[in-house]
Amino acid sequence: MARDRTQIAIIGAGPSGLLLAHLLDRAGVETLVLERHSRSYVEARIRAGVLEQGTVDLLAEIGLGERMGREGLPHKGFDLAFDGGRHRIDLFGLTGGKQVMVYGQTELTKDLGDARQRSGAPIVYEAADVSIHGADGQAPFLRYVETGKSQEVRCDFIAACDGAHGVGRRSMPAGEVRTFERVYPFGWLGILAEVPPCSHELIYARHRRGFALASMRSMSRSRYYLQCAIDEKLEDWPDERIWEELKIRLGPAAAAHMKVGPSIEKSIAPLRSFVAEPMGWGRLFLAGDAAHIVPPTGAKGLNLAVSDVRILSRAFIAYFKKGDRALIDRYSKDCLARVWKAVRFSWWMTQLMHRLGEEESFEARVQQAELSYLVGSHAAAQALAENYVGLPFTET
Ligand code: FAD
Ligand code: PHB
Repeated sequence: MARDRTQIAIIGAGPSGLLLAHLLDRAGVETLVLERHSRSYVEARIRAGVLEQGTVDLLAEIGLGERMGREGLPHKGFDLAFDGGRHRIDLFGLTGGKQVMVYGQTELTKDLGDARQRSGAPIVYEAADVSIHGADGQAPFLRYVETGKSQEVRCDFIAACDGAHGVGRRSMPAGEVRTFERVYPFGWLGILAEVPPCSHELIYARHRRGFALASMRSMSRSRYYLQCAIDEKLEDWPDERIWEELKIRLGPAAAAHMKVGPSIEKSIAPLRSFVAEPMGWGRLFLAGDAAHIVPPTGAKGLNLAVSDVRILSRAFIAYFKKGDRALIDRYSKDCLARVWKAVRFSWWMTQLMHRLGEEESFEARVQQAELSYLVGSHAAAQALAENYVGLPFTET
């Protein structure tokens, strides 16, 4: 297939770029995907783990649900741990039968990569120096370097699905984009280990020493997180110290069931909320982390990327199949309504669960009161559950 002209040039082969490519490919819209890293690098990045009901339904609908259905773990609830107790949030019961799916971003990215390969549609891994040209005119194009050779591809539209540090957002003129940011004064230390999880559902724990999360990738692989200082060094956290701290923060029942083992991945991620508005300029559109970042509390990042590209693919398909530009013109507005709701939820859950200062403080007392309200009020628990499983796709 010729690579010097396509309908949609997609930058980035993370979940948003690959899913957008797949949705367009199914509808007969031509795409070229350019990815800076190798396929194996992209597929090995350990990130998100929880898919909302709407994400799972979409993947099944477009023929990507088979392995997820076999290997993913449906979760009907999770626990909130605080003040020495554990309280279950019954997602299924509180939302009229909705649930989430534990299925790692690594696995989803592999499924999407395989789908791209099967389709035979072009994708260039290790594409260097991607640059955007003419996005404000009628004839946009990208330049990039492939195995040392400079290339150019003309297109109708550019989709920047290139993550938080990509070239897409940076290519919008400063005067055309407004950004909103909240940086949190702590990070998450994550550990992945080949041991069974300490509980069959996730545990989000508020502890005076800091937040902790018990998650998993399968029934034999656990993922845990600890709130840590922003300037913490990984060298100061040998595996033994992490396990000890997890046991304290997650509580005695979790500790009693916790299997420990050597880490197979360990990393520290800073937490921030960030939104760029609008999510497009001329013929350039941003999707996923390129446009917004949320702290991982509440597991919204990957799911937001999915809903962005769902909206963007519909807009492109309406344009190419019916000559209707209305959805393209509304893309940013349609996405941002949903984005801000997820930004609010992730910010709220972050504020609720993390150590913000001294335990004997106003903030800590308010957190305790709110947690007690959440587990004591059906209405409050329902609001949490509804956001956690994902707001209905139509509700923007
Ligand atoms: P990305 O996955 O970042 O993909 C962007 C792609 O674009 C990358 O492959 C990158 O190599 C490529 N790219 C970038 N610049 C260029 C360029 N100039 N040219 C070509 N290609 C380029 N979310 C959760 O819900 N739960 C979590 O626990 C969680 N943990 C996270 C931990 C970390 C360390 C990070 C960074 C994110 C985490 N997230 C989590 C967020 C979630 O992983 C992201 O929301 C999701 O990856 C967004 O997908 P994306 O495709 O938009 O961006
Ligand atoms: C994860 O398993 O990586 C995970 C789960 C839930 C979150 C964040 C991360 O809220």
